[in-house]
Amino acid sequence: MLPDSDRLGETQEYYFSMKLREIAELRSRGHAILNLGIGSPDLPPAPEVLEALTESARQPDSHGYQPYTGRPELREAFARWYATYFGVDLDPTCELLPLMGSKEGIMHISMSFLNPGDEVLVPDPGYPTYRSATELAGGVVRGYALTDSGGWLPDLEALENEGLDKVKIMWINYPHMPTGAAAPAGFFHRLIEFARRNRILLVNDNPYAFILTDSVQSILSVPGAREVALELSSLSKAQNMAGWRVGVLAGAEPYLQTVLRFKSNMDSGMFLPVQRAATVALGLGSEWYAALNAEYRKRREVAYRIMDALDCHYRRDQVGLFVWARCPGGTDGYGTCDRALYEKDVFITPGGIFGPAGNDYVRISLCSPIPVLEEALSRLGGGARVPHQSQPQ
Ligand SMILES: Cc1ncc(COP(=O)(O)O)c(C=O)c1O
Repeated sequence: MLPDSDRLGETQEYYFSMKLREIAELRSRGHAILNLGIGSPDLPPAPEVLEALTESARQPDSHGYQPYTGRPELREAFARWYATYFGVDLDPTCELLPLMGSKEGIMHISMSFLNPGDEVLVPDPGYPTYRSATELAGGVVRGYALTDSGGWLPDLEALENEGLDKVKIMWINYPHMPTGAAAPAGFFHRLIEFARRNRILLVNDNPYAFILTDSVQSILSVPGAREVALELSSLSKAQNMAGWRVGVLAGAEPYLQTVLRFKSNMDSGMFLPVQRAATVALGLGSEWYAALNAEYRKRREVAYRIMDALDCHYRRDQVGLFVWARCPGGTDGYGTCDRALYEKDVFITPGGIFGPAGNDYVRISLCSPIPVLEEALSRLGGGARVPHQSQPQ
């Protein structure tokens, strides 16, 4: 056997990659596992999106390599989408770089800007890929703890007091996964000033912008943001296209050119029918998002009742595709999830996989139909229609 590369270091296989294998094994042994773990939308994309895909796939000239920067029509569609929903004007020729999902963008950014030893501010709890991409790129992770009492927002003053000389990148992700926190008014402005003062590249990972939010927000709407900030967006969640792998990196041309130097050596463009269909998806009107959120709102009520059945405490003002809740005193998320999986055949996610600050929490995905959520509720011992009082903590 060849030894692993030093670069792999402590990096392990992605949690869901391992867990879904275990679930497949349990199912093969006859366990009817309900999967409330991963945020992969179960609802289909819009019919016109599917139509555009199949129509384009039938054309004989749809199958070759595509431009490394995506088709101009796709970049123009992203620019219209940003202008319509986020109120941000971006130049489609140079300020938008289509990606195969935002996850690859996290790796590309890390590889394009980090030198060994550069520090990266990573939210704890937060999406695990910020951490692994930093480590794979040779950077040093500096986790910044988010707390319920702090509104799940970074304490910028404390970070400045600790010293930020070696910090090159800060990852933020609002609406925040897994806590469901939204960015309050003025918060993005404060972050941009912080990034300027400390000469940090701020990257907002924004796949949940449309899900159960009161307003759709982009960090690039802050004046001057383009000097210090990039944003990742994705069609995985709000357009129900997680498996299609379509995202975009938005920001100033010099940053995107740097990322392209790395990315264009990694892939050879995105399948044309996917780009054509994504162009249609980006043109969906506000009624699409309203219908989607009407469904998620109903599902969230059942998810809250599951949390009640588990005796977990949660805020009712959460946004995004998950419900996040604190386990009852004395138990941690891993124990709660293990009991649900091994005793009730229900898979929910332990908060600890998002960082140590998530250890006492669990996360339920809204990507299952209501009958499945209700079946999970009944297996976990719930059923009362009126949830007991849950206090935010
Ligand atoms: C915070 C966050 N960022 C990025 C991603 C990856 O999204 P994509 O499918 O665009 O790669 C996810 C997926 O769950 C996520 O939760």
